[in-house]
Amino acid sequence: MPRKSGDFVKVEYIENGLSDRQKQEVWEILCQCDKEFIPPLSARNSTSQNQLLAGTGKDSAPHAYFAEMIKQNFILTVVDNRVVGFMTFKKAYSCPELESFGESLYVTTVCIKHNLRGKGLLTKMYREIEHNVTRKLGCFRISTRTWSKNHAQIHVLMKLGYRQVAIIKNDRGEGIDTIYFGKHVDLDD
Ligand SMILES: CC(C)(COP(=O)(O)OP(=O)(O)OC[C@H]1O[C@@H](n2cnc3c(N)ncnc32)[C@H](O)[C@@H]1OP(=O)(O)O)[C@@H](O)C(=O)NCCC(=O)NCCS
Repeated sequence: MPRKSGDFVKVEYIENGLSDRQKQEVWEILCQCDKEFIPPLSARNSTSQNQLLAGTGKDSAPHAYFAEMIKQNFILTVVDNRVVGFMTFKKAYSCPELESFGESLYVTTVCIKHNLRGKGLLTKMYREIEHNVTRKLGCFRISTRTWSKNHAQIHVLMKLGYRQVAIIKNDRGEGIDTIYFGKHVDLDD
């Protein structure tokens, strides 16, 4: 298993679609992380659902969420030829909360397997989208959203220079806000 920032960790933007095996590994990680999300992914209909509290929560696994997510763009973290984490994003994304920010690469989901957290893998995936994907796709704005109690993710975003673009108070329950973040990537970075 990798140490912090281990050299044999591969973080790559997938341009030609996921293999069936990679899809299966992504699904397993999504299921492992499902209940850590607020609200759980299995209670949502899509990756950009507006009414976050409106999910029925009747599905015990995040099938609907996965079905939409798998059509998106992927960055994978791979160790020993197995997927251990992923980032999904949409191109040319806009929504009312991000209107002032402009169209961007919108990161919809990030997950890292439990046993490999705290080793800088999410940070590596953000570096990949910032330094490689922006240039390939010609879009230099990156955005995402998360809930206010997701301290690890917010720590990474702030560390990398993302700024808060919008906050929706109590969007995910009393005292749990939705926060939109954005960053203009500087070509000289
Ligand atoms: C969020 C998540 C992707 C982070 O992945 P990761 O690979 O562990 O992230 P990194 O190792 O790159 O960075 C984590 C940072 O958060 C910090 N951190 C961890 N817990 C923290 C906390 N409770 N408060 C503040 N900072 C915290 C770590 O110290 C580290 O900072 P550092 O690099 O400056 O030392 C992972 O926890 C995860 O998969 N969570 C479940 C899914 C999720 O919440 N996804 C986000 C919503 S889409």
